[in-house]
Amino acid sequence: MARLIFLGPPGAGKGTQAVVVATQLQLAHISTGDLLRAAVAQQSALGLEAQGYMSRGELVPDSLVLGLVRDRLQQPDTANGWILDGFPRNRSQAESLNALLAEIGQRIEQAVNLDVPDEVIVERMLARGRADDNESVIRRRLEVYREQTAPLIDFFRDRQQLLEIDGNAAVELVTERLVNALQVAAV
Ligand code: AP5
Repeated sequence: MARLIFLGPPGAGKGTQAVVVATQLQLAHISTGDLLRAAVAQQSALGLEAQGYMSRGELVPDSLVLGLVRDRLQQPDTANGWILDGFPRNRSQAESLNALLAEIGQRIEQAVNLDVPDEVIVERMLARGRADDNESVIRRRLEVYREQTAPLIDFFRDRQQLLEIDGNAAVELVTERLVNALQVAAV
């Protein structure tokens, strides 16, 4: 059973790696970015509220995101474990997640931090061209990452749950590093 957090700056490859690792290990892939984009596409009340924050590169309010994660973690496909991709994103989300997991009798096994230099990240995101992948929004997402999300690296390191992976390599090589590190950590 694996219950994993994928951390890392925007564009580090969290989503790309989470899809592959979730398939290999038969885990549910839970991306808060994907859940929010789906809500925006449906124009649900939550999507309409989230939209402005996302288009500016700001974090969506914790209460909205936590509700999505709470619902998603109750779904049957999570029974064999899960990867949370892009959540938690700040200290308050990390603490709320721990409280939620305690409530449902689960715990995080590992948090994986994908490390990729800024210039590579910007290049990757500009090449992708998602709605929030323009230069000024990318810059803001990186600032928000540094201010609010990067401190979680120490949060998980202090709990002996952190695996650090060099994500600046071909997709397949990063997957290999990740799967090897997870196997070593599970021994
Ligand atoms: P979210 O969707 O989580 O975006 P992000 O963290 O900014 O991450 P990205 O999806 O841009 O990057 P990634 O690390 O997943 O990389 P990917 O694999 O896609 O969040 C978007 C917004 O939603 C936030 O700004 C916020 O507003 C809101 N939000 C989401 N979660 C939230 C939360 N918990 N709380 C509050 N708000 C929240 O790869 C990027 C590109 O690089 C792709 O084109 C990919 O093909 C390519 N690539 C990947 N790996 C490699 C490689 N090894 N070599 C070359 N290219 C690669």
